This record gives sequence, structure tokens and C-alpha cells, in this order.
Amino acid sequence: MLKHLSLENFRNYEKYNLDFSKTTILIGPNGIGKTNIIEAIYLLSTSRSWRVKKDNEAVLWQKDFARISVKMLNDKEKNMEMVLQRLPSPEYPQIKIIKINGVRKKLVDLLGKMPTVLFSPEEMQLISGSPLLRRRFIDILICQTDKKYTVALLDLAKIIRGRNKLLYYIKIGKSKIEELDFWNEKLVVLGSFIIKKRQKVIADLNLKLTETYQTIAGEKETLQVKYKPTVEPDKFAEMIVAQLAREIESTATLFGPHRDDLVFLLENKDVATFGSRGEFRSVILAIKVAELSYLKKANPEVPPILLLDDIFSELDLNRRLHLAKIIAGQQTIITTTDFDHIEKGLRDKAKIVELE
Ligand SMILES: Nc1ncnc2c1ncn2[C@@H]1O[C@H](COP(=O)(O)OP(=O)(O)OP(=O)(O)O)[C@@H](O)[C@H]1O
Ligand SMILES: [Mg+2]
Repeated sequence: MLKHLSLENFRNYEKYNLDFSKTTILIGPNGIGKTNIIEAIYLLSTSRSWRVKKDNEAVLWQKDFARISVKMLNDKEKNMEMVLQRLPSPEYPQIKIIKINGVRKKLVDLLGKMPTVLFSPEEMQLISGSPLLRRRFIDILICQTDKKYTVALLDLAKIIRGRNKLLYYIKIGKSKIEELDFWNEKLVVLGSFIIKKRQKVIADLNLKLTETYQTIAGEKETLQVKYKPTVEPDKFAEMIVAQLAREIESTATLFGPHRDDLVFLLENKDVATFGSRGEFRSVILAIKVAELSYLKKANPEVPPILLLDDIFSELDLNRRLHLAKIIAGQQTIITTTDFDHIEKGLRDKAKIVELE
């Protein structure tokens, strides 16, 4: 459970401290800094923000660094901290300094220490936005539970960069095709591991997805997530050989987890192409519930925190009532501009924080 958050020079907060209950509602007008608080928690949870391209954006204007720190209480008390250094110019890679219980750690060590599930209006793009968003969705979920996967993803990114560079040198006649062997082998091993793990987790998400969707939407349709690989793990090595000429020509690695996609299917039809706005919302809500139960099962000692950024205004009464039930299942942090959007039963039990 997240007990305490403290911000220093983070976005509009020069110094800010906040204590949390099981349910905490942050209320305040537009632009006051509600999402900034959700973002800070999410950054410590996943090591990245869904909002910024360059983390400098998150440092209060004119300051040299931003600090986010939290106190968690589950089996033991845990303090975690991230410092973002302001960079001299945006081309520099962001420096993030991590401390857990006062000890300097690597960025990957953060993952899984404070799992979160984020539900914000932007999440609606998960269904019909770019494949990148869907890969990020599945990767962030798995990274919160499996360090080996996180390391594999980081390694894969390096391998692809190196391999693409080599493809370029082969194309301009400066390197030999045989030099690819090393990179191909790594690509196939890491790529297959990542694809299989994603498929396994997706099978897990699917277990109760239909049931959840039917309760939320009051419909009888089936809902499934399907993984759409650019290559099957057992055909990976063959594929690379068969497509070599194309890869050299385009100097890019064309097959593998970095090009894969997911699709959401209602009654076996792609929601992205035919779904209504209402169906989008029910599908996303069902996915969020599936994420929560996956994280709960993966690490019962450190249950996930549900972050609801301005989501109630997007939902009709029926879906709000369902969401209120879901909220009871774990620690939840809610932001809103308007109290009327939130069920009275929920308001009565929650800690209310007015931002001004
Ligand atoms: N690096 C920064 N330094 C100072 N202020 C910043 C920085 N980044 C963002 N802000 C300010 O933070 C405010 C936006 O905060 P936030 O998005 O959390 O608002 P909100 O309460 O969620 O609003 P809404 O209800 O519209 O979603 C803006 O006023 C913006 O100028
Ligand atoms: Mg906001």
C-alpha cells in the first residue's frame, strides 16, 4: 500500500506532501496538478511516464532536478525515490537516479516494487491507436512482474540497433553478410523468449475477460485479446534467412517482438474497426480488471494500485457503478474535477484531498 508521496520540483509542485488511504480522491479545477500527482506515482512504478517524450518537461521550470519519493507499507516498509536531473539540452539521455531504502539502485530494480494499473482517458487509444501503444501496454504489464523479461527487452533493443547498423554496412559494402550470424542468433533467442512470454500472459488475461466484459457491458458477446506476431518463434531463424535481401535493402530488422501487435476481439471481430465508443469503454474497463487480477496473482505480497485519472466523466451510470465495485478490491487513487461524477458510497469511504 502506498502511504505517502513527496514531490520536490516535480512539474508545478515545488514542495508537496500527501498521505494516502485505501481510496483517495483528489479533487480540483483543470490545470491544478491532479494528473501530475498520478504521473509521479506512475513514473516511480513503471520508470517512465505516458505523458513526456523528454523527462526535462517534468522538472519545475528553472530548477536543476525533480524528486519523487514514496513510502510504501506492505509486508515491510519501503522507501523509494527517483531524481530526474535537468539536462543541458534535450538530446542528452535522461538521467534518473533511483534509491530504494536509501541505497542507490538501477532503474530496472524499481519495476514490480509498486505495481500500478493506469486508467485515463488517453487509454482509450489502446484499442485503435498505433501498435506501439499496445506493445507498451503488454510490456509494462509484464515488466512489473518479471525482471528477466525486462532485461530481455532492453537487450533486444540493443541487438536491433546493432543489427540495423550492420545491415546498413552490408548494404554499402563495408561489412560481410557472415557478420550477421552473431546478431541473428541473439535476435532469435531473445525474440522468441519475449514472444512466448507475451503469449502466455495474454492467455492469462483472457481467462476471465469475457466474463468481466459481460458483467460490465451487460452484453453476451465474447471478448478476447489476440497476439499478432510478425513471426512465429519456431520459424524465426528461417524467416530471417528467407527475408535477408529485404532487410538489407531497408536496413531494418523487419520481424520480431518490436513489430508485433495485439488485437481486441468482440465476437471474433476487431473492436478497433467496428466498435462503438461505448464498447471501447467497456473493453478498456474489462482489460483494466484483467490487468489488476494478473498483477495480484503474480505478486500477492505487493498488490497493485489502481490509478483513475479523470475517468468517471467518461463513463455512464452503469459503468460507474461497476467501477465503484472494482475500486473496493485494492488501493485506488482517483482524480476528478467534479464530485458529482463519483458515487456517494465511494465518496463517503474515501479520503478527500482538495487541491487549490
Ligand atoms: N515542468 C513544469 N513546471 C511547472 N509547471 C508545470 C510543468 N509541467 C506542467 N506544469 C503545469 O502543470 C499544470 C497541469 O497540471 P495537470 O495536468 O496535473 O492538471 P490537472 O489538474 O490534471 O488538470 P485537468 O483537470 O485539466 O486534467 C499546468 O498548469 C502546467 O503549466
Ligand atoms: Mg488531468
